Amino acid sequence: MTAEAEKLQPCVGQALARFAAEPGPLLEILHAVQNELGRVPPEAVPLIADGLNLSRAEVHGVVSFYHHFREQAPGRFVVQLCRAEACQSMNSRALEEFVRGKLRLNFGETSADGRFTLEPVYCLGNCACAPSLMVNGELHGRVTPERFGELAKEWGVS
Ligand code: FES
Repeated sequence: MTAEAEKLQPCVGQALARFAAEPGPLLEILHAVQNELGRVPPEAVPLIADGLNLSRAEVHGVVSFYHHFREQAPGRFVVQLCRAEACQSMNSRALEEFVRGKLRLNFGETSADGRFTLEPVYCLGNCACAPSLMVNGELHGRVTPERFGELAKEWGVS
């Protein structure tokens, strides 16, 4: 049994115990599971569905609807690039092209070596400093391709 598989039952159990009685608990539970495990594994879906008396399809539908939730394990560096309006008005499209080329990834992909995951996000609440991105929870504003290149160098990407 993997370390994650060992954690799965207690993790879901704790999230259910904490949130199941609250109104609209599903999102809170999914956040709690992803915060703990780094993803919402497919094996968590039936446990959550049983605990909330929902169908598996309902739970899976919510997991797949929100970009924030991921079913696969993320890379060591999770790069979340804002694609919302304020960032687009500050040329985030050019930044997107650059980042995708630099990491050789499309949105939603993780590199084969497990180092990088590239995810789209729709506003990081940092519009005044657009274009914005977040790397492993650290917010970066006014990111140019040059600035991203410097960050990438720190991660060993030339
Ligand atoms: S639109 Fe990108 S941070 Fe708000």
